[in-house]
Amino acid sequence: MGKLARFGVSMDKSLLRAFDEFVMKRGYKNRSQAISQLVNSCLAHSLSMDETATVVGLIVIVYNHEKRELLDTLIDLQHKYLSSVISSLHVHLDRHDCLEIIVVKGKIQKLRKIENDIVKVKGVKQGYLQVIAEKNNA
Ligand code: NI
Repeated sequence: MGKLARFGVSMDKSLLRAFDEFVMKRGYKNRSQAISQLVNSCLAHSLSMDETATVVGLIVIVYNHEKRELLDTLIDLQHKYLSSVISSLHVHLDRHDCLEIIVVKGKIQKLRKIENDIVKVKGVKQGYLQVIAEKNNA
């Protein structure tokens, strides 16, 4: 963490009450910790709209593993985009469904292409790209 800076914030009392409840429920140490984390999430979200940014992200998908051709297609795609795929985690959710989290790195434009190619595979029930952080030294 860099040097800390203090600033004042004014907001509606009822909004502040709701925020304090959120801070308590989440177990943050204080408002500053909660605000810092929210700002980081917000910045990551706005990054995801900058097509030229180089980022690290997650492609999260849920699919039915009984569709055999789907597994081959998903593996083929990960090999096709080898330079962007860092790792993946597979979780067997129940008898039928699997959750896969694919860690990717690269320009948003390219990651969106990978996301589209993966999500449109027949048998994928849901999927999305979550941008985590900017990674310019990639
Ligand atoms: Ni599985």
